[in-house]
Amino acid sequence: MGIALQQFEYLRKLVRDHSAIVIDHDKQYLAESRLASIAVETSCSSVDDLLVRLRSEPFQAMHGKVLEAMTNNETWFFRDLGPFQALEQQIIPQLLERRARQRKLRFWSAAASSGQEPYSIAMLLHNNFALPNWTYEIHATDISNAILERARLGRYSQMEINRGLPAALLARYFRQQGLHWFIDAGIKQAVTFQLLNLAQPWPAMETYDVVFLRNVLIYFDLDTRRRILANIRKVLQPDGFLILGCAESMLSLDASYERLTFRTTTYYRPKGKEPSHD
Ligand SMILES: C[S@@+](CC[C@H](N)C(=O)[O-])C[C@H]1O[C@@H](n2cnc3c(N)ncnc32)[C@H](O)[C@@H]1O
Repeated sequence: MGIALQQFEYLRKLVRDHSAIVIDHDKQYLAESRLASIAVETSCSSVDDLLVRLRSEPFQAMHGKVLEAMTNNETWFFRDLGPFQALEQQIIPQLLERRARQRKLRFWSAAASSGQEPYSIAMLLHNNFALPNWTYEIHATDISNAILERARLGRYSQMEINRGLPAALLARYFRQQGLHWFIDAGIKQAVTFQLLNLAQPWPAMETYDVVFLRNVLIYFDLDTRRRILANIRKVLQPDGFLILGCAESMLSLDASYERLTFRTTTYYRPKGKEPSHD
């Protein structure tokens, strides 16, 4: 039967108002496939019927569920590898020198999804930079409560484990229980999770040495991307680093960041201030 234009436009607005995610005009098929099971669960005869019902009711749990379903949570351990190699071989060694006095590094995974990204950072740090008297803090945020619950649990299926996690790190940091793998308690403890909508005003935040903002900007319009990058600038140390997703570029978005490379990986740091040693 398909989704009537009126309902589809309502869905696009709902998603955009809440999360700033722009759903293209030709993505009805996406809504059909992502919302089909919610329609069945709620005894609606179709996705169109579900949207008609949502339109007629004030915002409640069902709207939240629809928003969650329309969000892409795709992620995997050490996604794209390059940024993690840059982190290990270029970024962290520099920061260890510059923060020799404070002995503390703070990381932010700003669209953390089910936790593979912040846990990859935590494993990389523990496996390669377990230095005496150094503290590493990893803050992980996402707009979705449901996905953060999963991340906090640190529980992954065999399929999730098979995506990107090196065998040596699996052996070192996971234990198997039934059909699932659980991440080591020490790695879990290094990461704090918090609900945060990047597109709405942020709460007061600390500053970070490295921000991972990967595979989320692509869903926003240009103004929203610019606003978020400007906000990141405020919480990023002047000599800190920003890592975007492979398909995301700073080009024509924000001239206050300088582009750096490690092999084929691009990452950024704020312009205008020479890195300081303490
Ligand atoms: C495709 S995943 C990327 C996960 C991880 N950064 C990576 O690259 O593998 C995008 C994540 O962004 C989150 N997200 C979408 N809109 C958001 C917003 N407005 N604020 C914060 N997070 C958002 C989604 O919930 C989802 O978990």
